[in-house]
Amino acid sequence: MILIETIRAMRTAVRNFRTVGQSVGFVPTMGFLHEGHLSLVRASKARADRTVVSIFVNPAQFGPDEDLERYPRDLARDRALLEREGVDVLFHPSREEMYPEGFRTSVEVRGLQDPLCGRSRPGHFAGVATVCLKLFEIVRPDEAYFGQKDAQQAVLVRRMAQDLNLDLEVVVRPTVRETDGLAMSSRNGYLSPEERAAAPVLYRSLERARALYEAGERDAGRIAEAVRGAIGGEPLAAVEYVDVVDPAELLPLERIEGAALVALAVRFGSTRLIDNILIQAKET
Ligand code: PAJ
Repeated sequence: MILIETIRAMRTAVRNFRTVGQSVGFVPTMGFLHEGHLSLVRASKARADRTVVSIFVNPAQFGPDEDLERYPRDLARDRALLEREGVDVLFHPSREEMYPEGFRTSVEVRGLQDPLCGRSRPGHFAGVATVCLKLFEIVRPDEAYFGQKDAQQAVLVRRMAQDLNLDLEVVVRPTVRETDGLAMSSRNGYLSPEERAAAPVLYRSLERARALYEAGERDAGRIAEAVRGAIGGEPLAAVEYVDVVDPAELLPLERIEGAALVALAVRFGSTRLIDNILIQAKET
């Protein structure tokens, strides 16, 4: 695996792959890798000739009171993990390389950036869209891999790719979970032992939503209420939102006719965790 730190060298490496007819898969990350990230790497490896992973803790997507400075970093460990997976290129640019003096542009995906996490994280999704567009332009992949764990991000990036005619496919892969159901996240390490023990309530509450749906419940409000109720039984958890929305437009649903995204954000102390599930009628 080669480690590349400049945009120029990254462009050259991909150009060289292309010259010999190789396809390129790309997995953008902020590092501190876990099995969720590695599942995306494996999906890329299974399809593309070459796999590029980026590690960049993108300041543009963190609010002023968020965890940019304390976001976990361990490049040596990440490098070893990616090496073991057979990744071809690790792109690890500096802040200055990505956002030089005078940088002024921002990409907004109107509507999709506002609900769910957008309500408490203004500017977050513009930061995500902007960095993804930059990374896509630098790497020029055939496919870019994203996790369903960050459902709103995946919907928004896919919309941006479509709206701006980007010549790549956005592939979304399922959420990878710990054995107790907690969605893997670089932020899980912030949890105290007590909070960690309580956190699986999130997935249990989402499973409760699925069970209600499967038992015939179609009222979105009642499903959201049941999820809130299940989380409410856990004293360490403070619900930010539980919403039942249309999976493509992220607009609130009253009744579930087709598919629904049940998404939540919950705080355990100062740690904010998100999770979601897609529910839809089983194919017959
Ligand atoms: P990061 O949180 O590092 O996540 C990188 C990718 O891994 C995202 O597509 C995310 O959805 C996926 N991922 C995280 N946890 C996962 C899990 N448990 N199962 C499956 N996939 C999971 O998301 C970002 O970084 C950034 O916003 C980024 C897209 C890199 C832009 O800065």
